[in-house]
Amino acid sequence: MATVKIDGGDTTYDCGSEDTLLRAALRAGLQISYECNSGGCGCCKVRVLEGEVENLFPEAPALTERDLRKGFVLACQNKCASDGLVLKTRLETWNPKLLKPARFTATLAQKIEIASDLIEFVFSIEHDVDYLAGQFFMLNIPGVGERAYSNSSIATGSREIKFVIKRMPVGRGSNYLFTEAVIGDEFGCDGPYGHSYFRDDVKRDVVLVAGGSGLSPMLSILRYLSVNPSIARGVQFYYGAKALNELNEEYIREAAVGLGDRFSLSCGLSGSEEECGDWRGEKGFIHEVVDRNLQNYNDNEFYLCGPPPMTAAAQKHLMVERKVPFDQVHFDRFF
Ligand SMILES: Cc1cc2nc3c(=O)[nH]c(=O)nc-3n(C[C@H](O)[C@H](O)[C@H](O)COP(=O)(O)OP(=O)(O)OC[C@H]3O[C@@H](n4cnc5c(N)ncnc54)[C@H](O)[C@@H]3O)c2cc1C
Ligand code: FES
Repeated sequence: MATVKIDGGDTTYDCGSEDTLLRAALRAGLQISYECNSGGCGCCKVRVLEGEVENLFPEAPALTERDLRKGFVLACQNKCASDGLVLKTRLETWNPKLLKPARFTATLAQKIEIASDLIEFVFSIEHDVDYLAGQFFMLNIPGVGERAYSNSSIATGSREIKFVIKRMPVGRGSNYLFTEAVIGDEFGCDGPYGHSYFRDDVKRDVVLVAGGSGLSPMLSILRYLSVNPSIARGVQFYYGAKALNELNEEYIREAAVGLGDRFSLSCGLSGSEEECGDWRGEKGFIHEVVDRNLQNYNDNEFYLCGPPPMTAAAQKHLMVERKVPFDQVHFDRFF
């Protein structure tokens, strides 16, 4: 166990050999800024003033040559490699809603095929794990390493955790889960992480916008609201896929069954005519479907999730074109 010091005060924290600088800080209740925990966004850049670090992912796309020359590292991809490490970073105030992440074992209990290359993986866990609807976990995949997956479960102290995962064409982690993982396999899991959780203290109605595997945290929010009718919000869900065989509207509606007529679903397909088949619904990117259908933008709280180009287009549409205040838009980008 090494001690890490934050420059400019008395703050120190312990960093075990298992942990990155970011995760050890979060376990200690210290809020280093972060978003993806996966080396993709660059939100967790910190400067190393003294001591050594070990970089676990030197090719991480979020760090440039210039950052490296200036002594920046990604807190989510570096371990402490010497005692007396001093970091320069501005700690944010800890949000009391957020739970400190912890490691646990998750046993694969079920694989439910939702659509083409889209499976919901159900894991059982021995002890209650507390997390918020929409948060994500790091799943340790044998021979591959850790990958971030957003939960699709109801949350709140449950002994079950679910993830909707998309098989990527040459993805090492997702292909392992689709083809090699079998019922009963045990996986290391770490979490919860993420700031794009459902805000149950905000009274505004809810708009969910997702593409592809961005479905996962949206199912979590829908299931959470379905079993908690006292949190009575209207929910509009805009879901985008490329091809008709990637869509399963019935599965989404089942998750929202407790919402009754407070729920509406608009799906859009963005693929070729051949991929869309006999689809008679909306066509185009999902932010375009939102644009054509949503009224009174500012009355809603927004949750966006999916690949970076999809979330970027939706953010631009909401925040720039429709002037929705930034604090009403929450998002996770799936790097
Ligand atoms: C916050 C968040 C939530 C996500 N939630 C979901 C979800 O619910 N469902 C879903 O299907 N996908 C989700 N993803 C995407 C998921 O984490 C994987 O990127 C995706 O499954 C592809 O992984 P792969 O191993 O199949 O592909 P690969 O191409 O093998 O790996 C892709 C990703 O793995 C990471 N990676 C690659 N090499 C290394 C390395 N050496 N060290 C550390 N990291 C490395 C990088 O983040 C990279 O983007 C999420 C991503 C993020 C950031
Ligand atoms: S949180 Fe470290 S790069 Fe995104």
